[in-house]
Amino acid sequence: MLSALNVLGLFTTLASAAPAAVPEFPHILVTRQDIQTPVNSSLPNVTIFATGGTIASQGSTNLQTVGYQIGLGVQELVDAVPEILNVSNIAGYQVSNVGSGSINETISLTLAHMINDELAKDEIAGVIITHGTDTLEETAFFMESTVNSSKPVICVGAMRPATALSADGPLNLLQAVTLAASPAGRNRGTMITLNDRIGSAFYTTKNNANTLDTFFSTEAGQLGVFINQVPYFFFAPAEPVGRIKFDVSEFKSLAQVDIIYAHQDMNPALFNASIESGADGIVIAGVGAGGTSSKAALAAEQVYNATGIPFISSHRSSDGFVPNREDSWSIGSGFYNPQKARILLQLALTAGYSEDEIREAFAASYPMP
Ligand SMILES: *[C@@H]1O[C@H](CO)[C@@H](O)[C@H](O)[C@H]1NC(C)=O
Ligand SMILES: *[C@@H]1O[C@H](CO)[C@@H](O)[C@H](O)[C@H]1NC(C)=O
Ligand SMILES: *[C@@H]1O[C@H](CO)[C@@H](O)[C@H](O)[C@H]1NC(C)=O
Ligand SMILES: *[C@@H]1O[C@H](CO)[C@@H](O)[C@H](O)[C@H]1NC(C)=O
Ligand SMILES: *[C@@H]1O[C@H](CO)[C@@H](O)[C@H](O)[C@H]1NC(C)=O
Ligand SMILES: *[C@@H]1O[C@H](CO)[C@@H](O)[C@H](O)[C@H]1NC(C)=O
Ligand SMILES: *[C@@H]1O[C@H](CO)[C@@H](O)[C@H](O)[C@H]1NC(C)=O
Repeated sequence: MLSALNVLGLFTTLASAAPAAVPEFPHILVTRQDIQTPVNSSLPNVTIFATGGTIASQGSTNLQTVGYQIGLGVQELVDAVPEILNVSNIAGYQVSNVGSGSINETISLTLAHMINDELAKDEIAGVIITHGTDTLEETAFFMESTVNSSKPVICVGAMRPATALSADGPLNLLQAVTLAASPAGRNRGTMITLNDRIGSAFYTTKNNANTLDTFFSTEAGQLGVFINQVPYFFFAPAEPVGRIKFDVSEFKSLAQVDIIYAHQDMNPALFNASIESGADGIVIAGVGAGGTSSKAALAAEQVYNATGIPFISSHRSSDGFVPNREDSWSIGSGFYNPQKARILLQLALTAGYSEDEIREAFAASYPMP
């Protein structure tokens, strides 16, 4: 399909078609670069890490918007939007091609290792990750916590498959590349963009399982929007207060952290079941500001006393805040929702943090009484 791009007649071709070498990590999933578009040396360079999801999916008709199949590769994503090549030179890696419910620690660590390496190159302006939307915020938060660069890391997906009437993937992809190529995108942490909006990976969450207008952060708001495909930021560059960066260059796997969902009549035996299956830490998606039933709280405290594994109390409400309680068996998650609290606890445990250090890590993002 490279020839289709050359038809534009705008680009000089690479002297060598040999793909760039990728550093070897013992568990890394990707060993080859899948695409490299012809280079116009006055354009910025953006690298796409493709993982799958709806943006890479096709339905059987243009009306099908649920139950479709993943199958498009990174080359096909780029070919569908030739406008991208007026904005940036593109290199692309196919890291996985799965729905985002199947993104796992191998894929997250592969992305973190490869992206740190890519952004260390002077000629690279920024990177984008194409990803299913269901757990996009988890990978975005993982990158926020593990990529050590002032350059933009942009996470993007689509709510409608590529075959749908009014598919949103192509414009989302063009906007993501434009943002990754833009100096205005620097020093703002990892960002999520869909549906014309730009949000912080630290706070943005998926709010609706189906509609296009799903990614936003109620409390922290949006960082910016696209106007005529140009990113417009409401504020000067800023990064999330209390964000912690982990050096994951030596990480080959992550600690196991489970999330247990609180509700009326919740089953107190789940804490023990989780420990028995190997959990190193537990996040409770608590009712209100981190609560559970009194029976569940007693069971959790017994497990804590018996094992000493950290418990994080978060909230099952889509937004809000769980305060720290110094005398408690559990650590308040602050503003972190359960899925982001899980990632922070995984990274902290893998990095060897003590319980006090874990408490401080969570407390760093919110005001202490
Ligand atoms: C390279 O990109 C620059 C900046 O967009 C543009 O002005 C120029 O025409 C391009 N050159 C070629 C050969 O396409
Ligand atoms: C993009 O990369 C090419 C080499 O592949 C380099 O010649 C060019 O200067 C880079 N563009 C920018 C804006 O740094
Ligand atoms: C790229 O830019 C050139 C010059 O402005 C324009 O003629 C061409 O149509 C653009 N290509 C695409 C695919 O938008
Ligand atoms: C994660 O998923 C990838 C791709 O499906 C697979 O190759 C890898 O083995 C998985 N890792 C774990 C720890 O299950
Ligand atoms: C990030 O990079 C800076 C230097 O660029 C270094 O001082 C710092 O230790 C790095 N942080 C991590 C977590 O790797
Ligand atoms: C969980 O395990 C502990 C220690 O083995 C035991 O004392 C406790 O009764 C168990 N709790 C539940 C709810 O099964
Ligand atoms: C857990 O240990 C603390 C400190 O020893 C004790 O005060 C508390 O009663 C214990 N909780 C349970 C449920 O056994």
